[in-house]
Amino acid sequence: MNSVLFYKVMSSFYDLLDVVYFRKYESSPRKVVNESIKSGEIILDLCTGTGTNAVNIAKKCSGIKVVGVDLSKDMLTIARSKVKKDKLNNVKFYKMDATDMRFKDKCFDKILLSLVLHETDEELAAKMINEAIRVLKDDGEIIVTEWERSDELLKKIIFLPIECLEPNPYKTFVVKELYSYFAGFGLDIVEEVHCDYSKVLRLRKNEKQ
Ligand SMILES: C[S@@+](CC[C@H](N)C(=O)[O-])C[C@H]1O[C@@H](n2cnc3c(N)ncnc32)[C@H](O)[C@@H]1O
Repeated sequence: MNSVLFYKVMSSFYDLLDVVYFRKYESSPRKVVNESIKSGEIILDLCTGTGTNAVNIAKKCSGIKVVGVDLSKDMLTIARSKVKKDKLNNVKFYKMDATDMRFKDKCFDKILLSLVLHETDEELAAKMINEAIRVLKDDGEIIVTEWERSDELLKKIIFLPIECLEPNPYKTFVVKELYSYFAGFGLDIVEEVHCDYSKVLRLRKNEKQ
């Protein structure tokens, strides 16, 4: 299945992820991401999908500006319907390739890369990360959310659909040592928070950048 068709099919039930895996907001990655954003910041939600993080952040404070980009028109239609429903005017969504964006250098305070890298081919993921670094302010942060396997039997069972349905890059990404992976891009992991079925990493540019 090509990726346009894959995300077209996924868009209809994508938000079920939040119902199944991130149902408890208190221990969800959505809360950690939301709380890492401060008033006055300009946020880029790369590969925003149905815009869950972008909309949560925009709702939190009108003093935060959020831009979400995605290649899937079907995912963006759902994201835009949330903006309309909540009457938000501080979030905008654009159909754009995350590996080649129409933004100036160093213009965002925080960039979200949520549940994206594990389903992206190695070469494409590297292009996405380098493009994120280009548009990130020097003192900004990239906030990565990724799936994390649990040792608990019940959680392992509930997680089976993810293990079976995620595209090929998942199997290698989920076991990757991420400190050295991101160091290869000149990024340091400055915080790692473990959440339900996932982890959230805060990354900063290091002096090699
Ligand atoms: C699993 S969804 C993640 C959605 C969202 N970030 C979240 O946290 O729920 C991955 C998204 O990445 C988008 N995507 C994949 N490759 C892309 C690219 N090169 N540029 C922009 N979006 C892309 C897909 O269209 C899809 O909506």
